[in-house]
Amino acid sequence: MSRKIFVTTALPYANAPFHIGHFMEYIQADIWVRFQRQQGHKVHFVCADDTHGAPIMLQADKQGIAPAQLVAKVTADRAGDLPKFGISFDHWYTTHSPENVELAHEIYKKLKANKLITSREIEQFYDPVKGMFLADRYIKGDCPKCGAKDQYGDSCEVCGAVYSPTELKNPYSAITGAAPILKKSEHFFFKLSDKRCAKFLNEWVEATPLQSEVKNKLAEWLGDGGKNLNDWDISRDAPYFGIEIPDAPGKYFYVWLDAPVGYLASLKNYFETGKAKANGEPRSFDDFLADDSVEQFHFIGKDIIYFHTLFWPAMLHFAGRKVPNNVFVHGFIGFSGEKMSKSRGTGVSPQEYLKHGLNPEWLRYYIAAKLNDKVEDLDFNPDDFVARVNSDLIGKYVNIASRSAGFISKKFDGKLTKPQLPADIAKEFTAAAAEIAAYYDGREFGKAIRKIMALADLANQYVDANKPWELAKRVGRDAELHTVCSTCISMFRDLTVYLAPVLPQLAANAGELFNFNPNDWKALAKSLPVGHEIKQYKHLMTRIDPKQMDALLEPALEAGKEHAKAAAKPEGKGSESEVIPANSDFALVAPEVPKPIVIQPISETISIDDFGRIDLRVAKILDAELVIEAEKLLKLTLDLGVETRTVFAGIRSAYNPKDLVGRLTVTVANLAPRKMRFGESQGMVLAAGDGTGIYLLSPDSGAVPGMRIK
Ligand code: 2FM
Ligand code: ZN
Repeated sequence: MSRKIFVTTALPYANAPFHIGHFMEYIQADIWVRFQRQQGHKVHFVCADDTHGAPIMLQADKQGIAPAQLVAKVTADRAGDLPKFGISFDHWYTTHSPENVELAHEIYKKLKANKLITSREIEQFYDPVKGMFLADRYIKGDCPKCGAKDQYGDSCEVCGAVYSPTELKNPYSAITGAAPILKKSEHFFFKLSDKRCAKFLNEWVEATPLQSEVKNKLAEWLGDGGKNLNDWDISRDAPYFGIEIPDAPGKYFYVWLDAPVGYLASLKNYFETGKAKANGEPRSFDDFLADDSVEQFHFIGKDIIYFHTLFWPAMLHFAGRKVPNNVFVHGFIGFSGEKMSKSRGTGVSPQEYLKHGLNPEWLRYYIAAKLNDKVEDLDFNPDDFVARVNSDLIGKYVNIASRSAGFISKKFDGKLTKPQLPADIAKEFTAAAAEIAAYYDGREFGKAIRKIMALADLANQYVDANKPWELAKRVGRDAELHTVCSTCISMFRDLTVYLAPVLPQLAANAGELFNFNPNDWKALAKSLPVGHEIKQYKHLMTRIDPKQMDALLEPALEAGKEHAKAAAKPEGKGSESEVIPANSDFALVAPEVPKPIVIQPISETISIDDFGRIDLRVAKILDAELVIEAEKLLKLTLDLGVETRTVFAGIRSAYNPKDLVGRLTVTVANLAPRKMRFGESQGMVLAAGDGTGIYLLSPDSGAVPGMRIK
């Protein structure tokens, strides 16, 4: 039965160009969408620009233009790059749209009618010069623990301490440098702490085949009867670039409320501009979404799981709307084992990739070959890229056609005869269809590619065993040559259909050349008929010359050298290091500012009694894990001999969680617990830091968990 499917990818922020991380997600979703279409299902695949929020407003201010102008400038022709990479969105829209205002208002009003909106006064830092409230990322100051200067309002990059902005010493606004004042304001909250939310979310998680990593995260968030679920602050005060809250002048929806609503706004505009109808869906937007059999899927990165698996389904459910059938989460893309960073010369820019004339389908193939259904990071390795494309695509797949098709044109008038696959190969090809389909459907693209390449190996063994180029030289062997070449084209047709979701252009070219529909999965059951005509063979794809890769990476490597030079120069307050951080967690161009070594003066003298009040203990790290919604933190489970504790430590930049497990360290055991967004931190681990790294303390061997340090 044909399924009706609504698919989205995360909406990219509209203040920066696309980076490779966006394309990885679009390619992943596009492969899945193309596969579903190939199976005869009707897919509506949409996205939009995420236009609202403080970073966009401030960036526009800096340029002296209105935020809407900035958005228009950045997004003017970016949708044009999508088809170049074969991304087959049906529609691209914007969150700064009447549809988004209407839908955000409607959802908010329904939540309010359901008694899930509350308001209360909160106290927050305010920049008296800029006249605006400051989010944590716009407040800097001295670390309350080690005194390091110019630390952000959430954690210290020198010693790893985690704190709230009001604890910073000498705080200043990162926007104007002014000393912030504490000011009260009324905020609106979505009552995620309401028991109905935990109940619904538990049911939704139970009924939804989420990835196990995501289920585990949700089990933590929803555990203890949902007592860790906090109300979500959904309002921001003017000035703010966003959607005004109904009946609350000067109050705007926080960008993360209206962004996912943008999925629906884009879909609505797609319906109302007649595109859905042209794509075979005659119903209205409302009727389409009211249909229970319509399935809704979101592809997202691991940094935004929280928004998509807690707030978004709860908002939709309590507004009486369809909830997601699944949320597919991927990891980040790195470069040869490092984080992608243009300034360090470890980046691949999609725009540069195109400019250097590299074939976009090479990138699609490489990404597909490395993707699985897990929340795992993917590594882009230039040598591996060249090797895989050349050996798999050219050496294995294209090779089958290039070694057989010419003879069909030259000797047999371009017409095929009946293929005769050896029984063992035929069996493998027949059995593979269901296996490959299951891999695509389950987003195990790497496994699909491996299976397809295993079939290509069989086809090449057949070519090598039958040597068409030798048969062609021998007198009286033409019938055999005809059968061998027709068999090759038949296997090539099957491989092309299997590869079509990943390589749509190559598959279309192959289909055109050999006169078959590469998207007709059902045709796999039948071989090409006797007399089937093919065109004169033309080369289907070229090899990558490693020099092309070098040319692509050269500017990035130059940038890396510049970066190294810059590291030698000291950077003071007010320099480029003060730029507002990019609001994407894995922006390719995120400023990478080298840290000067800071040796702090010795602090004022304290008495032995003062020192004695600190209960320092040896602790064993039983477990260490990433905190999905806080990129600088690790969640540590510590054994203190008599009890275990959970501590959030800002040491993620320096340590791999798995390397910490089993290690002894030092903890402050009598520090008052701190409630954080993602749980309670029950202490602190000690680390040294001078701005260039973080070094966790360890006791000498022989110490055991719980021992007091004096
Ligand atoms: O993290 C981001 O890049 C956000 N702009 C994603 C928004 S996804 C959706 F909710 F709109
Ligand atoms: Zn510090």
